[in-house]
Amino acid sequence: MEILRTICLLILAVVHADRATYDKYQVRRVVPESQEQLEVLRDLEKNSNGLSFWVGPSRVQKAVDIMVPPHMLPQFDEIMASLNLRSEVYIKNVQHLIDTERPKVRPRADFGWTDYYSLDAIYAWLDSLVETYPEVLIPITVGRTYEGRQIRGVKLSFKEGNRGVILEGGIHAREWISPATVTYILNKLLTSQDPVMQDLVQSFDYYVFPSVNPDGYVYTHTTDRMWRKTRSQGGNRCFGADANRNFDFHWLEIGASSSPCSDTYAGSAPFSEIETRVLSEYLTSIADQFDAYLTFHSYSQLLLFPYGHNNDNVSNYDELLALGQAAVSALANNNGTQYAVGNIYSTIYPTSGVSMDWVRGVFNTPYTYSWELRDKGNHGFLLPADQIIDTAEETLVSLIVILRHAKEKLGRN
Ligand SMILES: *[C@@H]1O[C@H](CO)[C@@H](O)[C@H](O)[C@H]1NC(C)=O
Ligand SMILES: *[C@@H]1O[C@H](CO)[C@@H](O)[C@H](O)[C@H]1NC(C)=O
Ligand SMILES: [Zn+2]
Repeated sequence: MEILRTICLLILAVVHADRATYDKYQVRRVVPESQEQLEVLRDLEKNSNGLSFWVGPSRVQKAVDIMVPPHMLPQFDEIMASLNLRSEVYIKNVQHLIDTERPKVRPRADFGWTDYYSLDAIYAWLDSLVETYPEVLIPITVGRTYEGRQIRGVKLSFKEGNRGVILEGGIHAREWISPATVTYILNKLLTSQDPVMQDLVQSFDYYVFPSVNPDGYVYTHTTDRMWRKTRSQGGNRCFGADANRNFDFHWLEIGASSSPCSDTYAGSAPFSEIETRVLSEYLTSIADQFDAYLTFHSYSQLLLFPYGHNNDNVSNYDELLALGQAAVSALANNNGTQYAVGNIYSTIYPTSGVSMDWVRGVFNTPYTYSWELRDKGNHGFLLPADQIIDTAEETLVSLIVILRHAKEKLGRN
C-alpha cells in the first residue's frame, strides 16, 4: 500500500515538475475547398480542446495549420476523411523541433543572434547598451506585467525634434523570432556604418520594445514552449488572454474568442490585460510624437497593414500597399525569401483588437505594418536559431525601404 502511494506521488511529482512536452504532436496542413469545409474547421477551432490552430481558418483555398496530439490523431483523421479533406503532415514531431531549434553548442557570449535568449538576458543586454551609449539611449519602463515583471524598452534619439518610430516585439510569447529580430535591428541601428542606416538613425527617434508580453515569454522558456498569451488569471481554469486581441478597437468583433481557454481569447474586456493597458497608456502619452508603428510576429512571411476587422481601405491604402510591395521586393532580393503584402483582413484572416489597428484607428499613424516573419510552416513558431541572422537581416532591409519613404514623405531633414 505504502509503495503504491509512493509511486503515485512520484508520478504526480513528475507530471507537475515537467515542462509541457510535444512528443509526436504533429502539425497538419489542411486546405478547405468549400465553404462547408471552412465552417467545420471554424467549428473545430472553437470547440475542440486539444487541437491547437497554428494558422486558423480564414477562407476557402487558404491553408490551415493544426497541431494534433498523438492520442487525437485517429479521431482527427476520421473527421478529415468524413469531410473529404486531405491533411498533409507538415511537422512530424513538434518536440523534435523544440529540441533542435537552439544550437547544440550554446554560444559563449552573453547575447547575440545565433541563439534565442531569455528575458533576463535581453534586459541585461539593454542595460549594457544604455551604459555603452548614454548620450543617445534612454531606458523606458512601460509598466509591470500581471506577474510583476517590467515591460522594458529603450528610446534611441540622436537629436531633438525627431519624429518617432516604434518597434513592438514579442506580444505573442512563442514567436521567439520576434524579440530576436527586434534586438538585432536595435543593435544595427546603434552600430551600422552604412551611410543609409546612419542617416535613418539620425532622422527618427526609435522606441524599441523587444518583448511586450514578458510573462508569456518567460513561460515559453520555463514551462511551455507553445504558450501564446499573457499569464493573467481571471478565476477560470485557463490562464491568460491574447494580448493582440485585447486592444480597445473593434474589440471582440471578429477573429477573436470570448472563451478563456482559446488561444485567441480577447480577454474579459478591452485592455483587461495589464500589459496592453500600460502599453496603450505609454503610447497615448507619446502619440503626437510618432509616425510609424511596426510590430513583429511569426509565421507565414507576410507584411500586413490595417485593418483586420473589415476590408475597408485605410485612407492611404494605395501608399501602404505600394510601399509594402517595394519593401518585400527588397527583402526578397536580399535572401530569396518571398513575402505577400496586404491588409490583415484579406491577407491573413479577419481579426480585431490588435495593437497595430488600435494605433492606426486611434492616432491615425500613417505608417503601420506587421511582419509575419519566417517561415511558411516547415518549422512554424520553432524557427531554428541558425536562421535568426538571415531573417533579421532581410527584415531590416525591408524596414529601411519603409523608413526611407517615410522620411521623404514626411519631409524630415
Ligand atoms: C481599395 O483600394 C484598391 C486599390 O485602389 C481597390 O482596388 C479596392 O477596390 C478598394 N477596396 C475597397 C473596399 O474600397
Ligand atoms: C541566404 O543567406 C545565406 C547565408 O547568408 C546563404 O547561405 C543562402 O544561400 C542565401 N540564400 C539565398 C536564396 O540567397
Ligand atoms: Zn503573433
